[in-house]
Amino acid sequence: MCGITGYTGKMEALPFIMQGLEKLEYRGYDSAGVTLVDDKKMFICKESGRLSALSTKLSGQHHPQTCGVGHTRWATHGIPSQLNSHPHSNQAKTICLVHNGIIENYLSLKQELLKKDYHFRSQTDTEIIVHLLDDQYYHEGLNMFDALKKVLPRLSGSFALCIVTKDEPDTIYVAKKESPMILGRNSSGCFCASDAPALLPYTKKIMPLKDNEIAILRKDSIEVFGFDGSEKTQEWIDAPYDIKAAQRDGYDSFMLKEIYEQPRAIKETLRGRLTEDDVVVDELDELDLDWKDLKRVYFVACGTAYHACLSAAMQMQHLTSLNVYCFPASEFRYGEPYLDKKCLCIFVSQSGETADTIAAVKLAVQAKARTIGIVNVLGSSMSRMTDICLYTCAGPEISVASTKAYTTQLVLLNCLVLAICKRIDGSKADRKMIAELKNLPDLIRDVLKYDEQIKKLAKLLSDKNDVYFIGRQHDYPVALEGSLKLKEISYIHADAYYAGELKHGPIALIEKDTVVIAVATEAKIAAKTISNIQETLARGSKVILLTSDQIETEGFEHVIRLKTISQALMPVEIIIILQLFAYHTAVMKGCDIDKPRNLAKSVTVE
Ligand code: F6R
Repeated sequence: MCGITGYTGKMEALPFIMQGLEKLEYRGYDSAGVTLVDDKKMFICKESGRLSALSTKLSGQHHPQTCGVGHTRWATHGIPSQLNSHPHSNQAKTICLVHNGIIENYLSLKQELLKKDYHFRSQTDTEIIVHLLDDQYYHEGLNMFDALKKVLPRLSGSFALCIVTKDEPDTIYVAKKESPMILGRNSSGCFCASDAPALLPYTKKIMPLKDNEIAILRKDSIEVFGFDGSEKTQEWIDAPYDIKAAQRDGYDSFMLKEIYEQPRAIKETLRGRLTEDDVVVDELDELDLDWKDLKRVYFVACGTAYHACLSAAMQMQHLTSLNVYCFPASEFRYGEPYLDKKCLCIFVSQSGETADTIAAVKLAVQAKARTIGIVNVLGSSMSRMTDICLYTCAGPEISVASTKAYTTQLVLLNCLVLAICKRIDGSKADRKMIAELKNLPDLIRDVLKYDEQIKKLAKLLSDKNDVYFIGRQHDYPVALEGSLKLKEISYIHADAYYAGELKHGPIALIEKDTVVIAVATEAKIAAKTISNIQETLARGSKVILLTSDQIETEGFEHVIRLKTISQALMPVEIIIILQLFAYHTAVMKGCDIDKPRNLAKSVTVE
């Protein structure tokens, strides 16, 4: 969702701002804008549509200003348009700001401002902030820092804000609550951005701003305060990856690059987690939990991460007698789940910034449940909220369609489930599974060799309006994930069903040439799924069967056989095939792989 970049220092600001916005394009947006400031005036330029439209508008102009902010907007309040795009300014064009997040009480604040004769140019929730600041600055006579301390606590919802003023043309005021903001610095000046890839060409020294903090960026200094004005200590870190990790590196899309990065991402995620015959999740010892007393386990996440949770919950249900539940975060938060200190809640998120998941964490924390986060982004909001946080080490995932985050979540959840079960009943991890985990990177390299074959098979899908995925048990959540990948980037309507449920309704949709992608990898129930496939074939479907090398099948035209491994790990192999199907189908349809319509990478609104 919205991307922000800002710079103040000795260099011209515009090149950093624009390259940074480009790096943040993956977050999803529908308009873009910049503000550059010096002591004479604010230069503001905005354009709806792609960033390239803004670049075209700016081309041929020279902007020597050394301070400014930029923004890509993903519309929430008000249509994508030039008027609604950021930056937003006060009437006098002396205060300008960009915002990522949602101000939930903007209507009541707007009423208050209307009574004070403020006029609104846009339909956004953001515009109220600039007028509230104007009111404090000009009518109450406060300086900008004090104005912020007054205004920020009044805003409900989430925000990452960057504010520039004509009176302090080399200063950027930055504030954060529940939307990401990273600061950076080098010998030329100080930077801020919604995500580290925007900063990496300029600096590796970064600091994620924390919730309820204000940072003041000047040419050669950064100060950080709480919303109450108290000074905060600064925790600078080296960015955990280099610039190469955030570039396409010769691939035609980030998605394809990230599909191919999975062997390495899994290897990194498992580093230090496996011994000869056990898993190592020592962080569990830091949880204040009597394992024998544990009553319930909840897995909670959104989208792809939720699909990873479904697999982990199934694995845990098979291994323990505990009550295990799995919820999309948006349902969990309003579903009044039973929570107390005998509950363990496991939250999974690539970005660590997803609004629904964060709200779900808060609910669990308030109820004193024990909480574990599985997160990919170091220092993200969620990583700081849970009792313990385990990191997937997938590196930056730029593609909107999640790939390597999912497989790394699957393997880390697998280790976590085994480690929890051991603490509950002393059961040792299965040696065979440990060996398989160790071998997964090599196995995935082998699965990636199907790429050419899948490219050919994808022709079966590319002219279709609907595709159906079916599977049973562990094959079902991965079928859900495969169907999500296909619809996200190829815009083909795709649904996933339990194979046994097909005849209870969905089979009415099967007609001549309908494509059914069937996943049947578990020996003891494959025959059942294959019967369901026959039922669709009898109605004229075209079937692509994903199965394992120990299952005998006959008479199928399109079959992909994967190496048999423990059922809980099979989704890691299967999804590589389904990711490639989605990718090749979308390429054939001419879709923009890395910028799927209407989608944002990090969903920071409810
Ligand atoms: C799908 C996808 C989304 C995310 C979901 C949660 O490809 O990327 O469904 O999985 O928005 O995001 P995180 O994991 O960042 O919480």
